Amino acid sequence: MTATDTDVTIHDLGQHVGETVTLSAWLTDKSGKGKLQFLKLRDGSGFVQATVFRGDVTEEVFEAARRLSQEQAVRVTGEVRSDERAPGGVELSVRDLVPYAENGGEYPITPKEHGIEFLLDHRHLWLRHRRPWAVLRVRDCVQRSIVDFFHGEGFVRFDAPFFTPNAAEGTTELFEIDLFGEDRAYLSQTGQLHAEAGALAFGKVYTFGPTFRAEKSRTRRHLLEFWMVEPEVAPSSHEENMALQERFVSFLVRRVLEECGAELETLGRDVERLRPAASGNYPRVTYTEALEIIRQHIEAGDLPPNVQPDVQPVEWGDDLGAPHETILGSHFDRPVIVEKYPAAIKAFYMQPDPGDARLALCDDMIAPEGYGEIIGGSERIHDYELLRSRIEHEGLPLEAFDWYLDLRRYGSVPHAGFGMGLERVVAWITGIDHIREAIPFPRMLTRMVP
Ligand code: 4AD
Ligand code: MG
Repeated sequence: MTATDTDVTIHDLGQHVGETVTLSAWLTDKSGKGKLQFLKLRDGSGFVQATVFRGDVTEEVFEAARRLSQEQAVRVTGEVRSDERAPGGVELSVRDLVPYAENGGEYPITPKEHGIEFLLDHRHLWLRHRRPWAVLRVRDCVQRSIVDFFHGEGFVRFDAPFFTPNAAEGTTELFEIDLFGEDRAYLSQTGQLHAEAGALAFGKVYTFGPTFRAEKSRTRRHLLEFWMVEPEVAPSSHEENMALQERFVSFLVRRVLEECGAELETLGRDVERLRPAASGNYPRVTYTEALEIIRQHIEAGDLPPNVQPDVQPVEWGDDLGAPHETILGSHFDRPVIVEKYPAAIKAFYMQPDPGDARLALCDDMIAPEGYGEIIGGSERIHDYELLRSRIEHEGLPLEAFDWYLDLRRYGSVPHAGFGMGLERVVAWITGIDHIREAIPFPRMLTRMVP
């Protein structure tokens, strides 16, 4: 007994009203008594209620339905009926039903409330439930849309290695790999440096893959392993880079609004708060202006609910903390682009601002509603001598960067790119309050299992 080509999915049942169809599904919940059983079914594509009426089926089928337990897999044949009250607008009247196998015990995640740690311990099963289903389908939509966007703009997908010879985003967050006691490598914190080689070869490239950061901070925004998409364009400028980011993020939000209405509804996401981000026109402020906006909010006591009242303004030269990003993000109804941070708090490869050498030609995109930084990007230093002196100044090993310096020795041009954290964006779009639910199996300081 296996699924066949003629099987339908729950998602498509609306196209089969009045027909008798067959599908494979799992039981999420069951109720009823006497002559009627109500089976709540899911098949990964959606959810539907199936009714088993004693008069419609054989005694064996009715008994089999009555004995089903939570999450048992079944193969069901039934008539599709339209029902306005049902989610999805249809119901299934069962004619035949065969369980695939007996369950090996009671399913651990019962319909009662469970704590988050329990659910994460059972993530391999929790994935089957409505909330993870909705979040991870939005993730899939975002991933597909990322690929569509870049190919639509003429980019080539270019895979950076996961084992890298050098640090790029700060040496304290590197996972080190022992290469048989003979040498060391690191897990990639960013695909950027290799993407730069790709941009000089193909013009427009993007890398998209897992990224590793040994972040000891336990926040709602950090994972040890996350997915980053990193476009890189040569030649390009800081200005063009910011325009690309806005086209990109607004495209992703539009796509999710178009394709994931049911998922967002399942999550109770207020889509009206998401809509402005779909239409572009993202405000742009400088780092210095951002500090001023944050200071005014703090002085007026006008703070978002999740920011502590004792928050202090940012001193010029310091980085924004999570509460500052939350304050700034909530000042706008859509993502805000903050440009020209002090070079001293940013990565070594960023091009200095020709108007003020203390600043870098870089930007962060800050999401609204407290989701913080979703993008970091910059124009890259293209001058050989300047880049070499920055590497030395950072105390980074020059030998490891020799190949990177070759990109400035041969055919150097001003170029730019950025990185967007997939889970941060999915967390924001779905409105969940912790990034760990935006990836199938989160990897954090306190979690490596399942
Ligand atoms: O701002 P970051 O560190 O930028 C870079 O790595 C650049 N090399 C990108 C580039 O220009 N090609 O990281 C980029 C984004 C952040 O804005 C954030 O969305 C995400 O990656 N990110 C994380 N997401 C989850 N967990 C973490 N620990 C993250 N660290 C960064
Ligand atoms: Mg950053």
